[in-house]
Formats: sequence, structure tokens, C-alpha cells
Amino acid sequence: MSVYDQIAEAETKAVVEIEQAADLAGLTAIEPMLFGKKSELGGLKRLMGEVDAGERPKVGQALNEAQLVVREAHALAKEKFSKAQRLAQLETERLDLTESLNSTQRGHLHLVTQTMERLEDVFVGMGFTVSEGPQAETDWYNFEALNLPAAHPARSMFDTLYLDLGERTEIGDGEGGEATNILLRTHTSPVQIRVMESTPPPIYTVCPGRVFRRDTADASHMPVFHQIEGLVIDRGISLTDLSGTLNEFTAAYFGGAISSRLRPSYFPFTEPSAEFDITCVICEGAGCQTCQRTGWIELGGCGMVHPNVLANCGLDSEEWTGFAFGFGIDRLALMRHGIKDLRDMYTNDVRFLEQF
Ligand code: PHE
Repeated sequence: MSVYDQIAEAETKAVVEIEQAADLAGLTAIEPMLFGKKSELGGLKRLMGEVDAGERPKVGQALNEAQLVVREAHALAKEKFSKAQRLAQLETERLDLTESLNSTQRGHLHLVTQTMERLEDVFVGMGFTVSEGPQAETDWYNFEALNLPAAHPARSMFDTLYLDLGERTEIGDGEGGEATNILLRTHTSPVQIRVMESTPPPIYTVCPGRVFRRDTADASHMPVFHQIEGLVIDRGISLTDLSGTLNEFTAAYFGGAISSRLRPSYFPFTEPSAEFDITCVICEGAGCQTCQRTGWIELGGCGMVHPNVLANCGLDSEEWTGFAFGFGIDRLALMRHGIKDLRDMYTNDVRFLEQF
């Protein structure tokens, strides 16, 4: 067999091997037989020394051409297998996004946020502005300025969480003059102080926000909850205005069947002070389990702003009078929707949340 026939035969064999490879791995496995010293064409190259000097260029060319054919066949096969492998991988990793496109489920605001926004709307409709304050407060704003000095027994009404600021456990608070501890506000009343300090009366504002108390979570308590505070400061404001405003709000928020009443109570920052009740929203006053058959449910606290509080904010209590009120937003949402356990609001079970 001539050297040319040998070359042609080796080329054909190599091409057939390539064509018979089943996949990329198979192709890789036969690569030593196609290229390099151990391949058949490689072996023939070594025979070049035995070829006549005159024939060598021709034989060399034939070898090169054969090698080129094998290289091309190999490259083509490799490309084909890589493509197939990529496609297979894409197919297995494919995500079916049509499901979420077709879904009718949409996210929405949390019940507490919805309630807060509704309350703001109602008060804005009555001419109030909305104010906010920080959640980490100084002792001055949360207690002292609200007529609750350090040793005041009423401080026990608020189970306070203090912040450990390491080295900086004390900071100056500016207005109050004294260095004070930093705590998580136990109510929204400190925002009253901030508003009175920064805004000249008349003031008609509500302050919704998150508050904190050292409470263990149970069906009606959470260590983190929400309140809304109302503050009015103007000339000639009386208890009648407070009572009328709460009644007006109750009707606007719950509807005409619900009214409010005041019961004498005590808060250090208001004088006189009262708790305010509303007609039970479940039985509309007839008496049921929720209202313990009284027809009323307690909503929050209120009263006429104490002269000491006005003085702490630089307001002359001879000229200005006002009232304040505050109540829990979470509890309100709870009652309105007949939810039995406050904790359900914060477990974030979608089946619960999507009902509202
Ligand atoms: N801050 C009081 C509380 O958290 C509620 C309140 C607000 C009472 C305003 C009177 C006036 O219990």
C-alpha cells in the first residue's frame, strides 16, 4: 500500500471515529487517537524519514491535508455536541413564569398600615395635620416634659425598654437641659412635646407611630405596637371641644351608629384626664362577649393638656389651652375586624394577611 493510500485510510478511519462519537464525552475520549504522536496520522509522520527526499514535500502536504480534514471534522462534531448540551441544560433549568403572570394574587398593605392610613385620612378630613417623631427618645421627651419626673409613681404605667448605647449612655437633649437616658418611646405623647416646641399655636395635629413596652406577647399585648396621638392647642379650647372631636371622629371612622363617652381617669400630662370609650363595634351597644355585656369598649386616654406640659414647651397656659388624646391602632384594627388574637397580626401568615 502506497504511503498516500495509508494516509487516506488513516484519515477515513479518524473521520469515522468522530462520526461514531455519541456525545461530547465520547469525542473527548477519542482525541488521543485523532491527534498527537499516538494517532495513526502521527505515526505516519514519523515514517517521513524513510520517504525519498524528492517525495517528502508531497507526502508532507498529503499528511497536512489529512490532518486538516480530521481537525475540521472534530471541530464540527464538538460544536454540535456543545450546542446540544447547552440546549439540554437550558431545558432543565427553564422556569415557568406564566404561573406568576396569570396569578390573581397581589400583595397589599398590612392591616395595621391600612388602619393607620384610614385614621390619618379621617383626621386630615377634620382639619388636622400629621406629625412624626423618633422611636428612640430621650427621657425628657418621653417622661420629664410630660410632667413625669424621675421618681413619679405613674412611670410604672409604662414598662420601658432602655437602649444600651455602650459608652454613650447619656446624651444632652438640648431643650430640657439635662443629660438623659435613651429609651424606646412607650407612647406617642413625646411627639406632642416636639410639635409644641417647634410649631407656634394654633396646633391641630395627629401623630401616628410605633411604640414599645416591656410586655410579653399575648392575645392582647405586644412589646411593639402602634398608637395615634391627637393634639389641639388654641385659644379657649375646653373639654367640650375634646368630647365633640372624639365623637366626630368616632362617627366618621366607624359610622353613625357608634358614639363615644368619657370616663374620669388619670394621666400625669393631662388635667382633667379621661378614658374614652366607644359603642361596642360588634354588638353596637346591645351587649356581647367582646364588650363584656356593657355595650362599650375602651379605646384610649385623653384630657386637657396639663399647664406644666405647656410651660415645659414654653407656652403660656393663661393664653393657650388644649387637649390631647391617644389610642392603640392595633387594638382598633383588632376590634374592627373581630380578630381574637393580636399576635396573628404579626405572625405574617399570608392566609391571615390576605383577608384584609
Ligand atoms: N399616652 C397615653 C398612653 O399611652 C395616652 C394618652 C394620650 C392619654 C394623650 C392622655 C392624652 O396611655
